[in-house]
Amino acid sequence: MNATINLEKHFPVLLNELVSIISPLYGGTFIDCTFGAGGYTKKILEDSSNNVIALDRDKSVNPIVAKLNKTHKKKFKFLNIKFSEINKIESDSVKAVIFDLGYSLNQILDFNRGLSFKSKGKLDMRMGLNNFTCDDVISKMSQQNLFKIFKFFGDEKYAKPISKKIVEVRQNKKIKTENLVEIIEGIKTKKSKRNNSTKIFQSLRMFVNQEISELINGLINAYNILPVGGLIVVVTFHSIEDKIVKYFFKEYSEIKNSSRYLPNKITNTKYFNLIEKKPIIPSSEEIKINPPSRSAKLRYAFKIDNGCDFKKFKSKFSYLMEIENLAFND
Ligand SMILES: C[S@@+](CC[C@H](N)C(=O)[O-])C[C@H]1O[C@@H](n2cnc3c(N)ncnc32)[C@H](O)[C@@H]1O
Repeated sequence: MNATINLEKHFPVLLNELVSIISPLYGGTFIDCTFGAGGYTKKILEDSSNNVIALDRDKSVNPIVAKLNKTHKKKFKFLNIKFSEINKIESDSVKAVIFDLGYSLNQILDFNRGLSFKSKGKLDMRMGLNNFTCDDVISKMSQQNLFKIFKFFGDEKYAKPISKKIVEVRQNKKIKTENLVEIIEGIKTKKSKRNNSTKIFQSLRMFVNQEISELINGLINAYNILPVGGLIVVVTFHSIEDKIVKYFFKEYSEIKNSSRYLPNKITNTKYFNLIEKKPIIPSSEEIKINPPSRSAKLRYAFKIDNGCDFKKFKSKFSYLMEIENLAFND
């Protein structure tokens, strides 16, 4: 099945909440880092004082891009790049940078990509602009490295037996999506609320698409291109993403004293104004209409100063970046 995006079926997550946060800034350029089915972009373009620069690593969004190019010519520009490269954009009056992480329904339903455990056939999992496929990972990675991916990205309790079984099975046959599901089901025999394959598939998707480095570099570069007063909005869908975004905003929003005995000594500058410490989550009405939205969390903050080096942020999550750098031959 090839990717054709059905706009009628698409529900942009937390759209009303997003609009209420960004609308006071209307009248300028907005960067939509995760164009997808164009839900956010189209909403922003409804106000004729706005321009949108949209990014997506997946070329299958091209038909929607083509339509918007016709209807909004000068107001809309699309770039097929990864959002970690947002610093390549030249625009001096950006009002906000918006990330809606993860996958569009269209990508999940395109079974050729093997993003879903309901797919059959080759394990691919590429979103676009990738260097390798999931098949490369499953057929070439050492057991130890597979274990690390499942453990750290999936928090999978059965990471060890599953990685062992993969290495055993692959000696005799090519592991396809359905075989990977069989391996997981053979080890995780108890039924649980979530599908038994969810965590393993999530960890493989994250590794294949290098999602942690994308997010960390995307956030830092978003900060770097934004003028003071600009806004960063991020919608996450799982706990690792949310942990990273929460830390990014919180760590650089608070003025801390180096010691409680030296109350006036300020050790770090405030780079963000974090209006709401708690994330915004979908209403029960939204979850009813669009059940996958139930795990969404929206966080946002305004940039209030230049010059942050994000050293602490990078070092805090370097253990996850290192997993994305695991080599195929060790
Ligand atoms: C959840 S969808 C976005 C939906 C969109 N907000 C809408 O309303 O239609 C996420 C999109 O982001 C894209 N994406 C994910 N990671 C990306 C990255 N690192 N760089 C660029 N695009 C990315 C995916 O290809 C997908 O199309």
